[in-house]
Amino acid sequence: MNLFDVYPLYNVTPVSANGILVTDDQGKTYHDFYGGHAVISIGHSHPHYIQRLKDQLDKIGFYSNSIKNPLQVELATKLGALSNCEDYNLFLINSGAEANENALKLASFHTGKSRIIAFKNGFHGRTSAAVAATDNPKINAPLNQQQKVTILPLDDVQAFEKEISKNDVCSVIIETIQGVGGLDEPSAAFYKKVAALCKENNVLLIADEVQCGFGRSGKFFGFQHYEGIKPDIITIAKGMGNGFPVGGVLIHESIEASYGLLGTTFGGNHLACAATLAVLEVLDSENLIENAATLESYFREKAAEIPQIKRVKGRGLMLGLEFDFEVADLRKRLIHNQLLFTGGAKDKYILRVLPALNINKEHLDLFFNALKVELA
Ligand SMILES: Cc1ncc(COP(=O)(O)O)c(C=O)c1O
Repeated sequence: MNLFDVYPLYNVTPVSANGILVTDDQGKTYHDFYGGHAVISIGHSHPHYIQRLKDQLDKIGFYSNSIKNPLQVELATKLGALSNCEDYNLFLINSGAEANENALKLASFHTGKSRIIAFKNGFHGRTSAAVAATDNPKINAPLNQQQKVTILPLDDVQAFEKEISKNDVCSVIIETIQGVGGLDEPSAAFYKKVAALCKENNVLLIADEVQCGFGRSGKFFGFQHYEGIKPDIITIAKGMGNGFPVGGVLIHESIEASYGLLGTTFGGNHLACAATLAVLEVLDSENLIENAATLESYFREKAAEIPQIKRVKGRGLMLGLEFDFEVADLRKRLIHNQLLFTGGAKDKYILRVLPALNINKEHLDLFFNALKVELA
């Protein structure tokens, strides 16, 4: 059997990794400034993470959601405290798309309505309603196009007011900092207006924090950079498990649960909880959210030394460098000549930088030196 050929691959085969370093089968060691699509949050093979997963595996790796799993309770408690979201309840699943899928479904159950408002250049995953809310016709099959979704430009208050007042909208889904799209953000005034109009119109506000959440933006959640934003639902995945497949939906306590409303076989299993708890413990004990916030300023200082960089976008360690040329070739040269992984975006002029949150200034010096060599 062959693999279903959907990924254009770089010719690199990693076999081991540690911290920000990834070593391939030829013995070459790369610096990872991409974290495998913003997934590696506490660094590859963090010793606490390995130990917690190993210990858990020695005890029990999985049982279904029909039994008690105290690790889920421990996780919800720790997550609530660290994120300052104690007035939410947690539902655990396995991926970002699944988190958004459940969030959208729950909003529809709760409001009895079915249309979704999403935003231009947004990305929410590749499953049923999540992909329909994603602004990319190429990945929306006819099946997905049956969903009722209206995609609006960010910051267009008039268009938003017109759509949300039609009385058929169940939810508005927004990435506080767009990931795949290219690091655009709503203005504070627009985000505030969106939140207020959601309340007025009995529409649930879903903050998709799959990429910008879990500390990456320099606060636990991206929306916490904005004053007065209180989403009804928050979705998480990616950095949450540092590579272990896990996702979550934080549901405001005003939204009622009932048996059978949502469900999953694998979600919240013992290993997924151990991985997420390890990530939370390391974020906390190593002050990694503060580190992400501090390093953003240093990154911006270093970027200012390079004339080809037109703009720095993003926050914390969710950053993008905008050039006046397409960056695909530059990314290839960074991998093959400088042994350094970076990311691209839907906006082809943006080079994305999404390293583990425990990097330091020396790593950023190395990154900018490599960039300077390739731009010379
Ligand atoms: C903001 C956002 N939401 C959802 C997803 C989908 O996550 P997953 O690939 O885990 O399904 C992604 C993935 O890139 C994302 O960036």
